[in-house]
Amino acid sequence: MRVIDIIDKKRLGGEHTDDEIHFLVRNYAQDGIPDYQMSAWLMAVVWRGLTPAETFALTGAMVASGDTLDLSGVGRPTVDKHSTGGVGDKTTLAVVPILAAGGVAVAKMSGRGLGHTGGTLDKLESIPGTRTSLEVPEILRQVHDIGACLCAQTPTLVPADQKMYSLRDATATVQSRPLIAASIMSKKIAGGGKSIVLDVKVGSGAFMETIEDARALARLMVDIGKAYDRRVVAVLTDMNVPLGFNVGNSVEIREVVALLKDNAGVDRRLRELVLYLSGVAFELAGKADSVEAGQEMAASLIVSGDAFEMLCKIIEAQGGDPEYLRRTVKQPAARVKLDIRSPRGGYIRNVDASVIGVAAMRLGAGRETKDAVVDHSAGVVLRHTVGDLVERDNIIATLYTATEIAARQVASEVVGAFDIVDGEVDAAPLIYETISG
Ligand code: URA
Repeated sequence: MRVIDIIDKKRLGGEHTDDEIHFLVRNYAQDGIPDYQMSAWLMAVVWRGLTPAETFALTGAMVASGDTLDLSGVGRPTVDKHSTGGVGDKTTLAVVPILAAGGVAVAKMSGRGLGHTGGTLDKLESIPGTRTSLEVPEILRQVHDIGACLCAQTPTLVPADQKMYSLRDATATVQSRPLIAASIMSKKIAGGGKSIVLDVKVGSGAFMETIEDARALARLMVDIGKAYDRRVVAVLTDMNVPLGFNVGNSVEIREVVALLKDNAGVDRRLRELVLYLSGVAFELAGKADSVEAGQEMAASLIVSGDAFEMLCKIIEAQGGDPEYLRRTVKQPAARVKLDIRSPRGGYIRNVDASVIGVAAMRLGAGRETKDAVVDHSAGVVLRHTVGDLVERDNIIATLYTATEIAARQVASEVVGAFDIVDGEVDAAPLIYETISG
């Protein structure tokens, strides 16, 4: 088999055999195929697409490129969760402890933030001492002993994806539905969870800007799951407006703590989505008869304090300071704090997620390039959201950052993210639809 023939076949719109795909992925992962040939194939896929059968084979080949987690010994039903990413999306940090407190095991591997979207690992590392690089035996031990871990993908899990994703990032080949679906699902399948809840974000702050694109991606991922004996439910949720009020790292941890402590004032959409995703997971895991019953279970685990105590346990097991969470620091330790005031009175019709995401990144909360250093205390805290009535000069957001200049530079962008109109408006949508096998 020659790589050049495989590339040429896809260039002409042909359909690969399973063997061709396995040959390509296996040899690329083992450094037997150079980046330039893989790039050419990836670009041919972007243009010509992959059939479902090719996409299933690609997923399987990627899983086979490395280790898989065997969670059969954890003694509880196992669930995994994935979000396609967005602005202010901190649901993982609440859903995982809720599930573990309810007797469902989760070996959750997450990524770092890039561009305008945040990453769970950066948020976790804003908690002093917390380690996110865990070895496979440590992951298995922690999930067995406590019921969950929150960590980085290990280097030996789906190494083909780690190589291919970097290459796609540098060759404008990320935007391909089968490549995205295979990349996400290979990691979930290798992660060992028997059931998988996918939160597919739709909107200006998300990968998928239209509901049609999100639906097609969700359907493909559900089908991949079925082909690999996983029960998958995909929930299409809004990402035109940031999720929750806080966007950054330590500010998002504070918001998660407030939610899990059942404090007043938590964003309605954030709480609703956390309960819904937890409800779907409890039902998938056989812990609840319906999503509604699962949501009630999640709500009672919050009210009892069990979910918050579970978050503390997970953080402590990973070297972090649970007292930091218990103290719920009132303000981030950022050197500069700048309030943003409303330029006019009226109802907030929109708060543009992508604009807020870019602003948070430029304040230091995210990274423009992979190697940039994150300022954990930087971020944006929204004081009002869609549907609220504000008066001119009301504080609508607060910026946290290291320098006065950085704050001043993004202030006008943050003002511009708010669309304020005269007439009353509805609250922002949240859950569009749920797709299951
Ligand atoms: N997230 C992934 O893990 N892979 C993709 O290809 C896109 C988003």
